[in-house]
Amino acid sequence: MSAPLQAVRGISDILPADSGRWHWLEQTIREVIAGCGYHEIRLPLLERTELFQRSIGDLTDIVQKEMYTFTDRNGDELSLRPEGTASCVRAALQHGLLQQPQRLWYQGPMFRHERPQKGRYRQFHQIGVEAFGFPGPDIDAELITLSARLWRALGIDAVRLEINSLGTPDERQQYRRELQDYFRRHEAELDDDSRSRLERNPLRILDSKNPALQQLVAAAPLFEQHLGAESRAHDAHLRRLLDAAGVVYHHNPRLVRGLDYYTHTVYEWVTDQLGAQGTICAGGRYDGLVAQFGGKPTPAVGFALGLERVLELATGAPAPGEAAADCYLMPLDATAELVALRLAGQLRDALPRRRIVLHCGGGSLRAQMKRADRSGAALGLILGADECARGEVSLKYLRADRPQEALSLDAVVARLQAEFARV
Ligand code: HAM
Repeated sequence: MSAPLQAVRGISDILPADSGRWHWLEQTIREVIAGCGYHEIRLPLLERTELFQRSIGDLTDIVQKEMYTFTDRNGDELSLRPEGTASCVRAALQHGLLQQPQRLWYQGPMFRHERPQKGRYRQFHQIGVEAFGFPGPDIDAELITLSARLWRALGIDAVRLEINSLGTPDERQQYRRELQDYFRRHEAELDDDSRSRLERNPLRILDSKNPALQQLVAAAPLFEQHLGAESRAHDAHLRRLLDAAGVVYHHNPRLVRGLDYYTHTVYEWVTDQLGAQGTICAGGRYDGLVAQFGGKPTPAVGFALGLERVLELATGAPAPGEAAADCYLMPLDATAELVALRLAGQLRDALPRRRIVLHCGGGSLRAQMKRADRSGAALGLILGADECARGEVSLKYLRADRPQEALSLDAVVARLQAEFARV
């Protein structure tokens, strides 16, 4: 016999004991985002590879090393999405949504072939928020305060906001050259990873986690000197807004992000409670991307949070475990099964938020009672042959010391409604 198949490395199942926590997480986040006037857009998991090459950037790690890319049966080059922003811009343009400002959000799995470890997966889940058509820092501040609102709703307080400005593409180009010169002068001190970034993407060397490079990185020229008046004004205005909103932030001049589309504001929410993978949410402005995709120049800004990491931190989440049933129906023979199926339907119609479980698979009363007990139900309904013939069922309190009662079939729905109204 061959060994049972396993899931792909870095890709997990969410088991019944955890799905309640996920529901809570997604629902809480959805309510906060919708409450700020954002509308959901549902985006596909597969896109043309070119979409990501042209947005995230041909030379980034995500595009060069991490995408799940393949040629389909028509010969089209496709990739599983590694993030949602590119698809969101593509869809908004394709459907003419950008004639007016838009506030959008999306959720779902993303795919990156990274080295799996705690907090870093090959399939992970994001909720992303994107706003189009707002040029000023007011919307940057709104999005940041929206994420702060999320942390409050989820019971997360051990997070720190780091912000930086990446200026305009021209300003960044100047800085890139200066940084390249600097690291070239110190090439012998670089590790292999940083050396490979030197020509492709020198800004990413600033992101290096290698302790041996920290001194070199700390002494690297800062971007701030290249920021023009407009970029500075945008950044200063954003900070004033955050101060007014009472959002604490830390300016991190080394914050560069791993995607190429950013301009001006970039930020990350980080925690030191999750080990190496401490960024729970990240985003920023990408004013050039819509035009880069052939649209009218449209300012844009957004963020995405990593749900696996956020759930780890959320103290408001319910404990793991499957939700208990409310009522368990036990038909003891074939005739009773006919009655029980109908009764279960009536109870489900009348009590739509309750879990009504119908025993399947037959068995003795003892065996069925065991299952009923394991289901966690408070109430059991026993349908025996004699009872059914009399048009009755027995109501059994599975968690309380109360005597069993015989109920007329017609009275069961109203009785259970009354029982559950009490709790
Ligand atoms: P990102 O920084 O690549 O940005 O990802 C956002 C968040 O997704 C990260 O902060 C992290 O919480 C989570 N994440 C990323 N990779 C993994 C992984 N391998 N395993 C688990 N969680 C992960 C973006 O994706 C941009 N689209 C954000 C954005 C939206 N910028 C503007 N609008």
